[in-house]
Amino acid sequence: MKKYVVVLAALCLAVFAVSAFAASDDPIGACIYKYDDTFMTNVRRAMLAEAEKLGETLDVVDSQNRQPLQNDQVDAHISKGVKALVINPVDRTAAEPLMNKAKAEMLPIVFINREPYEEVMKAYDKIWYVGAKAEESGTQSGQIIADYFKANPGADKNKDGKIQYIMIRGEQGHQDATLRTEYSTKAMKDAGFEIVELGNDTANWDKVQATDKMKGFISAVGIDNIEAVLANNDDMALGAIEALKAEGYNLGDAAKYIPVVGVDATAPALEAMSKGELLGTVLNDADNQGFAAVKIAALAGDEKPVTEESIGYKITDGKYIWIPYQPVTVENYKEFMK
Ligand code: GAL
Ligand code: CA
Repeated sequence: MKKYVVVLAALCLAVFAVSAFAASDDPIGACIYKYDDTFMTNVRRAMLAEAEKLGETLDVVDSQNRQPLQNDQVDAHISKGVKALVINPVDRTAAEPLMNKAKAEMLPIVFINREPYEEVMKAYDKIWYVGAKAEESGTQSGQIIADYFKANPGADKNKDGKIQYIMIRGEQGHQDATLRTEYSTKAMKDAGFEIVELGNDTANWDKVQATDKMKGFISAVGIDNIEAVLANNDDMALGAIEALKAEGYNLGDAAKYIPVVGVDATAPALEAMSKGELLGTVLNDADNQGFAAVKIAALAGDEKPVTEESIGYKITDGKYIWIPYQPVTVENYKEFMK
């Protein structure tokens, strides 16, 4: 009898375990705004790794920076019978029609990296957003510059007590571009510095465009007058550094150095930090953003509850997963190298 009870209990446990963890065979459908983006490539890798770990099939496609193409890709995912969607919109204002497509099919939809407007987030109960608070990264990058000026009074080259800087922004309309620009300048001011903007333009997150823009700024204002460069991401920071290097700056001569900060902590940025070309960056945690998005899609796609316990991340207002940023400086950058 006793033996029978034990066997039965074991059987129940096994059935429970299988039903709790078994994934439905339907894939998760995902779209990335474009594959030619360093940070989003890291997010995509993390998504694929998590899917593999969970035994899920992740069908991910390149939206090639074209919203109409992405709309068609979402339709294709839906007609293939995906159980959930993970979408990195090309244009954050296009989230609404995509949400409506998902809603019509009662499919869970997880937006990443480009935050839908609040009314879109409120209009459906199977919608989530995984991202990071851009304000944080702006503040942290501004603080890195302010700390540098405090530690190195010589950085104020014209000795006017102010920081003369260049701002290179990400894509127009992207919450990360707007907020990083605003909060990085605010952080320098909050640290007690007067700031003077010598130039400000978008380079669309892109390294080559940033090199061009920086070359333009150098010829417009003169390299001797530039005391700092703030870029909304690392690719653009590295692009700006190319332009500085072409003038003999940031190549190791302490007299010819301009502090540059970015955001993301990509591998090439950490490499540039190790060479002393880039002052600092901010970790935009691609791994945890990718892991969280796929965990939610997998659970919601199998009609299982999405809770802080089930996904292992904090959930705000039932729908938002905010992955924290971290400042990356010369003191700690090695910890982030993979
Ligand atoms: C930002 C990131 C950029 C770029 C952009 C794409 O969060 O810092 O490098 O990847 O997302 O939307
Ligand atoms: Ca100055």
